[in-house]
Amino acid sequence: MRAPFEVLFEAEGLPEYALPVDLKHLYGRLGFPDRVIYANFVSSIDGVVTLGANPSAGSVISGKSPADRFVMGLLRACADAVVLGAGTLRATPGHLWTPAHVYPALATEFTALRSALGRSAEPALVVLTGSGELDFSHPALVRGAIVMTTSPGAKKIGSRLPASCELVVLGKGKSLDVGRVVGELRERGLDVLLSEAGPHVTGQLVGEGLLDEVFLTLSPVLAGRGKEKRLGMVEGIELLPAKGAWSRLLSARQHGDYLFLRYGVGKS
Ligand SMILES: NC(=O)c1ccc[n+]([C@@H]2O[C@H](COP(=O)([O-])OP(=O)(O)OC[C@H]3O[C@@H](n4cnc5c(N)ncnc54)[C@H](OP(=O)(O)O)[C@@H]3O)[C@@H](O)[C@H]2O)c1
Repeated sequence: MRAPFEVLFEAEGLPEYALPVDLKHLYGRLGFPDRVIYANFVSSIDGVVTLGANPSAGSVISGKSPADRFVMGLLRACADAVVLGAGTLRATPGHLWTPAHVYPALATEFTALRSALGRSAEPALVVLTGSGELDFSHPALVRGAIVMTTSPGAKKIGSRLPASCELVVLGKGKSLDVGRVVGELRERGLDVLLSEAGPHVTGQLVGEGLLDEVFLTLSPVLAGRGKEKRLGMVEGIELLPAKGAWSRLLSARQHGDYLFLRYGVGKS
C-alpha cells in the first residue's frame, strides 16, 4: 500500500504520538490517552462482523484490504496489550496478534514506534476463556499469552498451557467479570488496551462502560444474513431504544472504497 489515507475529518485536541515518518505519511496523526480501551472491527456495509462457522471473518469481510491490515498493525503497535475472547482465538487459527504479523512491510517502523513510546517489543496478548477449551498448539499461545479464566476454566486447562503462557484465575463462576479483568491488566501496567475480541466480549465492555473508542473499518461489501447467525459488533446486551451508546466521531479516513472511522463510545 503506497497511497496515504485521505483524512476526511479529525476532531480537535486528540492526543498525538510522534509517529515514525512512514507511518505518519500514510496515516496522518494518531495518539491515545494514557489509559484507554479501544476496539478495532471491520464491518460490511450491512453491519456484519462475523460469518458463523467461517474462520477469519475479519479478513474475509475486509477482502484482505492492505489498508485495513495496515490500520490493524498500527493500532497493535500503539497498544500495551491486545485482548481477545477465546471465540476469536478459535476462529483465527495460525494468527499472531502482533503488528508485524498483520503488516510485515512496516515491521521496522512499528517497532520504532513502540520503542519511542516506551512499550515492550510486542504487545502482550490476553485471552479470556470461561470454558478453558483452547487449542493449546495455537501459535499465539505457543508464543506466549496471559490466559484469564475462572477456577472451573483453570481446572479444564490443567497444565496444558505452553510454558510461555501465564494463567490468571479470577473468580469461581462460569465467566469473568470484565471490570476485574481490566483492573488486573492495569495492575500490571497494561494501560493502553486494544480489544480485537469479537462481539461477545465487546458487548460486556460496552455494558460495563469500559470501551472508550472504536476503530471501525467499513468494507465496501454486502455480507447478507441467511440461516446461520451473523453478528454485529455488540452482542449480549440490548442498548437501543432505551440506552443507545451515542458516540462522537473522532476521525474519518478514506482509502479507496473503504472508510476508516474512529468513534469515542458513548461520548456524544
Ligand atoms: N470483523 C471483525 O473485525 C472481527 C473482530 C473480532 C472477531 N471477529 C469474529 O468474531 C467471531 C467470534 O465472536 P465471539 O463473540 O465469539 O468472540 P469473542 O468475544 O472474542 O470470544 C467469545 C468467547 O470469549 C470468552 N469469553 C467472553 N467473555 C468472557 C468472560 N466474561 N469470561 C470468560 N470468558 C469469556 C468465551 O470463551 P469460552 O467459550 O472459551 O468460554 C466466549 O465464548 C469470530 O468469527 C471472529 O472472526 C470479527
